[in-house]
Amino acid sequence: MENRKDFASKLGMVLATAGSAVGLGNIWRFPVEAGAMGGATFILIYILCVVALGIPLIVAEFAVGRSAHTNTAAAFERLTTSRFWRQTGRLGVLTGWIIMCYYVVVSGWTLAYLVKAIMSPPIGSETVAKGGGYWQEFFTSFTSDAWLPTICVLVFMLLSHFIIVRGVQSGIEKFSKLMMPMLFVLLIVLCVSSFFMSGAREGLAFLFRPDFSQLTFSTILAALGQAFFSLSIAMGCLCTYASYFSRSTNLTRTAFQVAGIDTLVAIMASIIIFPAVFSAGIQPDAGPSLVFVALPGVFEEAFGAWPWASYAVSIMFYFLLVLATLTSLISLHEVPTAFLSEDFHMSRRKATTIVSVSVVLVGVVCSLSWGPLADVKLFDLNIFGMFDWVSSQILLVVGGALITCFVGWKMDRAQLYNELTSYGQVPLRRVRWIVYLLRWFAPFVILLIFLSGIGLI
Ligand code: PFF
Repeated sequence: MENRKDFASKLGMVLATAGSAVGLGNIWRFPVEAGAMGGATFILIYILCVVALGIPLIVAEFAVGRSAHTNTAAAFERLTTSRFWRQTGRLGVLTGWIIMCYYVVVSGWTLAYLVKAIMSPPIGSETVAKGGGYWQEFFTSFTSDAWLPTICVLVFMLLSHFIIVRGVQSGIEKFSKLMMPMLFVLLIVLCVSSFFMSGAREGLAFLFRPDFSQLTFSTILAALGQAFFSLSIAMGCLCTYASYFSRSTNLTRTAFQVAGIDTLVAIMASIIIFPAVFSAGIQPDAGPSLVFVALPGVFEEAFGAWPWASYAVSIMFYFLLVLATLTSLISLHEVPTAFLSEDFHMSRRKATTIVSVSVVLVGVVCSLSWGPLADVKLFDLNIFGMFDWVSSQILLVVGGALITCFVGWKMDRAQLYNELTSYGQVPLRRVRWIVYLLRWFAPFVILLIFLSGIGLI
């Protein structure tokens, strides 16, 4: 463990951790949820959930990871002798691995759409709008094909593999420092371009003018669930990354920075998507197909008389998705890799390879469940849906509850306060509120999310 490397710079650390958080959850899932739940009202509730639940949970994971300075599974073993609590870390590793198996499938789609966008230049000065029907057909035939999505899964996994195998500093940190700034530049260019779309006024009003008559209990539950997924909570990622933080890192400040970047990206993604959606006259609650069915057609026509602008925007948008997805996937990849290499004393190369191969094998099965294996169903869910349901409705929530209760009630107080105050550098009174929320608020809220996920409320 002595030759274990930490992140080399604060910037690299923040960008890598924000890279884990920023992903499909921000660019795909957040606008869908915001669209379905009334736009501005959802965004306000979401920000409250991030502060009251997200940030305390991020800090809790950071505290466990940094104080143990080892992978998630070993971290809990180091911090407690209780047989029960020691399983929390293993559950995180398992959840991370399971999420990776289906996350890589959608990651592959983003790559395919990027290639498709590049290969669809306008002809002369004409916009070659293929229309919504074409994209619905494309999506269905692409995802149900046996080979193309499989190849995309493979390529994406290889990208992640080559970053992870290089280790924390020359792999994760170096690539995050390259990819995250590119992602921000793309976001800014796309946001600015969306102001020029014909539906800009309507789209922005939908996003920023709250209508509290739309506020229901399910808006709050949806915002809580979204915060969990988007901030990468309870999957071992934050805990694993924090094990590479130095002792001088201020955990609370880092949690605010990561959550702030994550929320900003989600809102910027909505600023890009909704003007486009309103320009094309599509309902903002079009659902998960928004990014893969509605948007390609929308981008084709977004700039009417300037087909090359539409062409450039759609390439940039899908490149943005690829970057965001890749930085999240590598953080998921790191969780089981660190576990195998440290707990089973394997070389990093061997550990990474085992994770990559196992995820490809299971990921391909998840991918095939959109086509040849579509009929394999349990409780009306295909294999992909089962992975999604088990991880996001059950494992995530159980993991989140365990982490909250462990850090709030069980972890050694002195050790926890040392972490929260960064060994005396931050006054305790400034961080106590986090402990209160972890003890008294988060467990109750997580129980609500769980009950709603399994359909009991
Ligand atoms: N937070 C990522 C997103 O919003 O897409 C997804 C994710 C990454 C979930 C890493 C979990 C994780 F450990």
